[in-house]
Amino acid sequence: MTETVLVTGAFGLVGSATVQRLADDGRSVVATDLDTPAARKAADSLPVGVTVRWADLTDPAAVGALVDEVSPSAVIHLAAVIPPFIYQRRGLAERVNVEATASLVRAAEKLSSPPRFVLASSIAVYGSRNPHTVSGVLTADTPVNPADIYGDHKVQAEKIVRTSALDWVILRLGGVLTVSPGSYMKMDNFSFEGMLPTDGRLQTVDVRDVARAFAAATTADAVGETLLIGGDDATHRLLQGDVAPAMAAALGLVGGLPTGLKGDPADDDGWFNTDWMDTTRAQHVLGFQHHSWPDMLIETAEHAGITRPLLRVVAPLVKQVLKRRTAYYGTGLRYANPWQAIADKWGDPRPEAHQ
Ligand SMILES: NC(=O)c1ccc[n+]([C@@H]2O[C@H](COP(=O)([O-])OP(=O)(O)OC[C@H]3O[C@@H](n4cnc5c(N)ncnc54)[C@H](O)[C@@H]3O)[C@@H](O)[C@H]2O)c1
Repeated sequence: MTETVLVTGAFGLVGSATVQRLADDGRSVVATDLDTPAARKAADSLPVGVTVRWADLTDPAAVGALVDEVSPSAVIHLAAVIPPFIYQRRGLAERVNVEATASLVRAAEKLSSPPRFVLASSIAVYGSRNPHTVSGVLTADTPVNPADIYGDHKVQAEKIVRTSALDWVILRLGGVLTVSPGSYMKMDNFSFEGMLPTDGRLQTVDVRDVARAFAAATTADAVGETLLIGGDDATHRLLQGDVAPAMAAALGLVGGLPTGLKGDPADDDGWFNTDWMDTTRAQHVLGFQHHSWPDMLIETAEHAGITRPLLRVVAPLVKQVLKRRTAYYGTGLRYANPWQAIADKWGDPRPEAHQ
């Protein structure tokens, strides 16, 4: 057996940070992802100790060959199709999020020294969370009740992992943010965030802390545990509508984002699948919380550099342009209706059983 960690989705948001963390910790890493021009370019500047294996995880033969060849001591499985793109590509998403997880688990089970399997799940498993009617914060024991295909895929993937013969750890992530948001400032992401109730609760977490959690989960005394990964309770328990404007302001776009709509207090199904969470156990075993929300904003501003004053000047104009492109512009709606807005723009978000 090698002591190599196999990281899937290694060139995504969480994957890049996780590979970096493992390399910084002196671990041997095989990074795998789809062979795309962007990933090839990123592969040119990988840290020492990291090798790359391109593979499409929807191909079970490719998965089998990859796992056999690497024979890892741990797998960190991050590859997934995530919102909002998932709502446009339901079939592909199911193959990646559910079937590829099963292929990886089956291949890992066949090794003579099977690896520990660390799965990236999401608090989307809990479904719509109306802050006016739910009590307390999310825990690992809160019943799952997915409202969309994403949450449903994660429930299915968790079941595959939990019922496998492998040692496993499941990490359910909250809202992952980066202090270098450049590549995530896409129109689709603005549209998506603008659909979500501004008073929905969201526990954010710095991607570098998520990476620490994944790296620690490969060896920590946490086998058979489901852990909730969010930033510290004191500063990361935020409201949806506060997050993007604060990040945008840190980048220089002060007042540059249009204000969205609140959620309907009388509609328990009309909220997005985020909430605050109890991270006590996760922090105890993984010790991952290092970046507070105010520190993230300061770092974001520092990274923005020269573009900051320029964005400040164009902020009012940007707001006017974005306002006209928000889902609720001109609808006269009083409350946000995120699932309908997602259906109208990208496709039906509901799990198969509810269609
Ligand atoms: N970002 C968040 O806020 C968040 C929240 C909760 C859970 N998660 C979970 O964390 C994990 C990582 O998320 P992320 O934000 O880094 O997503 P991402 O979209 O940035 O990265 C996902 C990676 O998976 C790869 N991938 C997709 N299809 C593949 C295939 N067929 N074969 C091989 N690789 C494939 C993509 O190329 C991409 O690099 C995912 O499982 C996601 O569901 C993320």
